[in-house]
Amino acid sequence: MENRKKLNIGASILNADYLNLGKEIEKAGNAGADFIHLDVMDGNFVPEITFGQMMIKSIKKHAAIPVHAHLMIQNTDEQLKSFIETGADLIIIHAESCRHLYSCLKLIKDNNIKAGLALNPATPVSFIENVIEIIDFLLIMTVEPGFGGQKFIESMVQKIKKAADILEEYNLKTRKRFSFDIAVDGGINEATIKKATDAGANSVIIGTAFYNSNDPSKTVSGLKEAAQKTIKQAL
Ligand code: DX5
Ligand code: ZN
Repeated sequence: MENRKKLNIGASILNADYLNLGKEIEKAGNAGADFIHLDVMDGNFVPEITFGQMMIKSIKKHAAIPVHAHLMIQNTDEQLKSFIETGADLIIIHAESCRHLYSCLKLIKDNNIKAGLALNPATPVSFIENVIEIIDFLLIMTVEPGFGGQKFIESMVQKIKKAADILEEYNLKTRKRFSFDIAVDGGINEATIKKATDAGANSVIIGTAFYNSNDPSKTVSGLKEAAQKTIKQAL
């Protein structure tokens, strides 16, 4: 059985115009993005600092589409609770910065928030094996986290396939139908999206491709079209 889901596109505001953030957030919804992706960086797990809990709260108040928080922070275990309180619809934590991964994912779920797991390019996809039953979202980093505008790492295509296979095998073994979104983050454009969706991704994050575009609606519809042939419709 395959992980059959419809394609969702998330707009990452990392490279948006921060002085006009309200408009930039609106732009994402108006252009047909399915969710907003907020890159929280602490200057420790990754070199730069972006924004934190208060910004997520404000954005959540005004956003017309779901808000996802991608936590690129060193002290996930210590800070998670305060991010749960922001009202984000989905919280993504990194396997590399979380000491008690199972408990942290469980804490997110226990608060009725969707739980996402992010894996850096060099982190084995086998990390998901023991948390399949609790994650809603797997974020496969297709660039090293920290910056927008980087080049898609081609070898991540195999990792996406592996994730889809692991899920399928798990469901066969347990005779259950667990499911999570397989998302990719980094270097997505019209040339790379198809590689990701062909491999089994059903969710993509776009940063510079969206916020540097002169016609964001066209960018979103163009990407959806480029991926269309490979995405299986929802069951
Ligand atoms: C990188 C961030 C991404 C980033 C993607 O650390 O996690 O979400 O905004 O930007 P692009 O699409 O430009 O690679
Ligand atoms: Zn991100």
